[in-house]
Amino acid sequence: MQPPPERTAPDAENAPPTGPGPGRTLGQEAAGGGAPGDARATGSPSAEGSSVPGPRTGAAKAGRVTLRSDLRASWPDGLVALAITAALSALIWARINSRASSTATVMPFMADDPEAFLLYFLSQAFGWSALLWAWITVVLGLLLSGPRPARLPLSGPRLERLHRTTSLNTIALIAAHALLFAAELIRHNDAAWYGAAWTAFVETFVPGGYESGTGRIAIPVGQAALYLAIPLGLLFYIRHRIGPKTWRVLHRFVLVVYVLSVWHTLLYGTNVWYDGWFRTSVWLLQIPIAALFLARLLSPARRSERLPALAAVPGGGKPLWTARAAGRAAAAAVLVVLVAILVTGRDGGREEPPADTTSTHNHD
Ligand code: HEM
Repeated sequence: MQPPPERTAPDAENAPPTGPGPGRTLGQEAAGGGAPGDARATGSPSAEGSSVPGPRTGAAKAGRVTLRSDLRASWPDGLVALAITAALSALIWARINSRASSTATVMPFMADDPEAFLLYFLSQAFGWSALLWAWITVVLGLLLSGPRPARLPLSGPRLERLHRTTSLNTIALIAAHALLFAAELIRHNDAAWYGAAWTAFVETFVPGGYESGTGRIAIPVGQAALYLAIPLGLLFYIRHRIGPKTWRVLHRFVLVVYVLSVWHTLLYGTNVWYDGWFRTSVWLLQIPIAALFLARLLSPARRSERLPALAAVPGGGKPLWTARAAGRAAAAAVLVVLVAILVTGRDGGREEPPADTTSTHNHD
């Protein structure tokens, strides 16, 4: 049995984990969660039927957004995601073959025989499109739940629907990323297929199952993102059962999914393994998220979440007010840290080893 692909760089285990970026993700923050009369929060009386459900009349039932209707609506952006993944695969493949990719430096055996690791490179491409779709989903969610530019070309309900479909596609892209990694592990295992499949399943999907290298931390971080994304993304569709308030509270935890995804990428992605412009760009992409998150906290679409409204809540106003104010200070601090990373270029990457200077000149 060939060992599973693992990093060979000597510095691999000593590199400090990089800190999480800010943001929130994967779901439907404001969709239907608005305060009564607050049209911004729901994106207007929703043409998509996603406002807080009232008594279940026949019409309300027929108009309610279901998982099935959203799955049907998700194919256009799903196709765009697949096209982008295909383009990324071609780029990753070309960079491996020319050895320009840092994956080739971290794991030279892959660049020596790229055909043998095709599924691994495909998995990398799906990882990037998953992260991109998570980013888009978060941006759309924050535009729904915070202040929205007046000139936005999309109406509230369309924005809301796009947010739901990119969220579903993000989950699918993460699943494809993980499954391709598992398939690669199976391919490189000489055991009987069921033994190989079981080992790959454990290493890919069971926390603690992957026992070597940085993956001991990075893989469970990715798994946590996937396992949280599924319920937090899908709870929307049973919102009428759990109640819109419960859903809204739980949906906030999608922030954690996004942070875990970025952390996993910066910790484990061999294309961002070393210090450099590409890794710094991943941090750069977190600045709009942090800025939108801060704007969302400063000026939430739901009037009931604004500070003066919170202060007026009888009994529990003060703790809520304090929590919100602390949240704003933390979001502002994250923004400052991100700008500092960008300005200083200190992105937490490992130091790239010097190019191999071994002389091929024969002195004999
Ligand atoms: C069960 C969960 C997951 C598993 C088993 C997994 C596995 C992996 C592995 C093995 C790598 C290293 C590939 C390399 O050499 O670069 C990786 C990198 C990566 N993963 Fe994941 N991952 C999971 C979840 C996620 C999630 C939730 C996201 C984001 C939404 C994500 C996005 C990425 C990205 C962007 C990379 C960098 C790829 C590169 O450097 O080219 N992964 N993942």
